Amino acid sequence: MEFKNAEEWSSLISGTAAVIFLLTLPLIFTDLFGSSVIPFHKWKEYLSTPQINFCSREIKKMLQEQEPLSRLVRGGDLMKLEATGFACDTAEHSFVCVANRPVIIYTTKNITVYIPTNQTVQEETSVRPYARQEDNLQYVTPVKILQGNNTSRVCQYDHQIPAVIFSSAFTGNLFHEFDDLIIPLFITIRHFKSRVLLIMEDHNPWFLSKYSKIISRLSGYQVMNPAANRSIHCFPGSVVGLKYHNNLFLNCSDIPGGHSMSDFRQFLAETYNLKFWHVSQIRNPTLILVSREKPGGF
Ligand SMILES: *[C@@H]1O[C@H](CO)[C@@H](O)[C@H](O)[C@H]1NC(C)=O
Ligand SMILES: *[C@@H]1O[C@H](CO)[C@@H](O)[C@H](O)[C@H]1NC(C)=O
Ligand SMILES: *[C@@H]1O[C@H](CO)[C@@H](O)[C@H](O)[C@H]1NC(C)=O
Ligand SMILES: *[C@@H]1O[C@H](CO)[C@@H](O)[C@H](O)[C@H]1NC(C)=O
Ligand SMILES: *[C@@H]1O[C@H](CO)[C@@H](O)[C@H](O)[C@H]1NC(C)=O
Ligand SMILES: *[C@@H]1O[C@H](CO)[C@@H](O)[C@H](O)[C@H]1NC(C)=O
Repeated sequence: MEFKNAEEWSSLISGTAAVIFLLTLPLIFTDLFGSSVIPFHKWKEYLSTPQINFCSREIKKMLQEQEPLSRLVRGGDLMKLEATGFACDTAEHSFVCVANRPVIIYTTKNITVYIPTNQTVQEETSVRPYARQEDNLQYVTPVKILQGNNTSRVCQYDHQIPAVIFSSAFTGNLFHEFDDLIIPLFITIRHFKSRVLLIMEDHNPWFLSKYSKIISRLSGYQVMNPAANRSIHCFPGSVVGLKYHNNLFLNCSDIPGGHSMSDFRQFLAETYNLKFWHVSQIRNPTLILVSREKPGGF
């Protein structure tokens, strides 16, 4: 992961070009992960495996009957969420905490999510809301989640939709933007059908403008910059962190489920109004060779 001069990058690569990049993923993937988590030949296999590419109707139907917030946890965590209103999902790569009861989000300092309960002892959970938890997250500001009776429900803004908190600390590298932010956002919030407010900490305005088309199709509300909006907000529920399945990968049957790689490609094609889905559809395709100075960069 690396930081880059924002302006330099935005003039270099627009959101549309980034999508073209997506269509060349398998090539880049070979290079990046020759021996990593999913080997290239496996990835190709995944792309052509029907169960992964097309979720079964049963899964989709089952999930559709579930509340969007409940879809983010399963098994014992789902039971805990239903019983207490709060649960965290710990997966191989990701850590996501969900509250399906009213929360008060303080952005007056670093973000604190307060979940009012009747318990007199305060319970504290700290989350660095970034998709790949195995990365070095020192630049991701932690979000504090407090449960207890030590708060009053006084809000400056009362929202009718849940909030999703994530950090955009690492951007400036096309691979990480898609792998760590765009795809995890799609996995985590697509099923909310835009009825979700994004709170982006470690705010990177350039990331928002580059991917404004994608973001505005994922959330119908303006993305909040907590550092600029120092106030107290009430929400009917909240999600802290983003789900992550694997390198540039969406697993249809994994949490929250129901979206496949092909759904994501279709989403991109619709978002950018792409005329062609495959190079074979273009009469005279132009071959572009890009020289990369170092791995993962352009
Ligand atoms: C606290 O307990 C009271 C009385 O039992 C109940 O009405 C209220 O809903 C509870 N509040 C929370 C946040 O659980
Ligand atoms: C608030 O966030 C900043 C930036 O990540 C960090 O340096 C600081 O320690 C945090 N403060 C608290 C009280 O967590
Ligand atoms: C929390 O609960 C304890 C015990 O019931 C009570 O003494 C205390 O006043 C409560 N705190 C608040 C802020 O309501
Ligand atoms: C309860 O809230 C007050 C005021 O916000 C704070 O000073 C105090 O430390 C809190 N108590 C606990 C146990 O967190
Ligand atoms: C803070 O957020 C609220 C609710 O989303 C919004 O109405 C308000 O304009 C924001 N204020 C600032 C200073 O960004
Ligand atoms: C997809 O998710 C399911 C459920 O978590 C898991 O059993 C399966 O191994 C995953 N598939 C891949 C290819 O990671």
